[in-house]
Amino acid sequence: MAQNETKTASPSGVPLLKVENLSVSYGHINALKGVSIEVFPGEIVVLIGANGAGKTTLLSSILGITPSKAGTITFDGQRIEKKPVDKNVRKGVCLVPEGRGVFASMSVMDNLLLGAHHNLQNKDKNLERVFGWFPILNQRKNQVAKTLSGGERQMLSIARGLMSAPKLILVDEPSIGLAPIVVNDIFTILQMLNKEGYTILLSEQNAYKALKAAHRGYVLETGTVTLTGTAQQLLSDPGVKAAYLGA
Ligand SMILES: Nc1ncnc2c1ncn2[C@@H]1O[C@H](COP(=O)(O)OP(=O)(O)O)[C@@H](O)[C@H]1O
Ligand SMILES: [Mg+2]
Repeated sequence: MAQNETKTASPSGVPLLKVENLSVSYGHINALKGVSIEVFPGEIVVLIGANGAGKTTLLSSILGITPSKAGTITFDGQRIEKKPVDKNVRKGVCLVPEGRGVFASMSVMDNLLLGAHHNLQNKDKNLERVFGWFPILNQRKNQVAKTLSGGERQMLSIARGLMSAPKLILVDEPSIGLAPIVVNDIFTILQMLNKEGYTILLSEQNAYKALKAAHRGYVLETGTVTLTGTAQQLLSDPGVKAAYLGA
């Protein structure tokens, strides 16, 4: 299927996620300075930014790991900026962390079951769906996670997030450290999950491939959104080309 086939020209309706004027500081470091973004149901939205731009801070603030200093976060119609992580997970937010974050000496199955602990009543159904999407994890379910390849670990990390049956998947730099062909696989998986109905907000330094897979994007520079547009607009923007696409 052509990658652009299902892309929306412009989002409409009520956003699933709305971040308004969010500011986050670590001591005297202002990591986010009044960031506003929206993600609509059914979208893949990418945050593009160099190292230190604030991508991880934004994603971890949405989940509730990193407290905000000012601003609001509205998810599925409710304000969540002061809510604890477990409440937000139950409400339907999941974070696939930077560096994958799988437990290396635990089995694939036990890693997946960790992701299910907020939604135990649907564990079997969710496991079946996840194994349908990631047959390799089914084949390897009894292996310890450290025996997986980098791409398989990323799949496990995404699959673990899916075990909580989220409405919004936050994916922090999924392609980092992976070989180009494996990066393609990961973006194909994210597009497949999007077609299955999942809304996805991801961060990437690998801007070209991420924009090819996404509907829209935001460029984040030292804690500020400097540009936003459709993936196509960003791919053809001269500033984006020069700074992020190696052109
Ligand atoms: N735990 C922390 N303590 C202090 N400063 C931090 C911490 N995490 C991130 N920062 C700083 O906040 C800014 C944004 O970092 P981060 O959100 O990790 O950016 P990115 O994910 O885009 O690389 C950087 O200046 C970084 O050094
Ligand atoms: Mg980061």
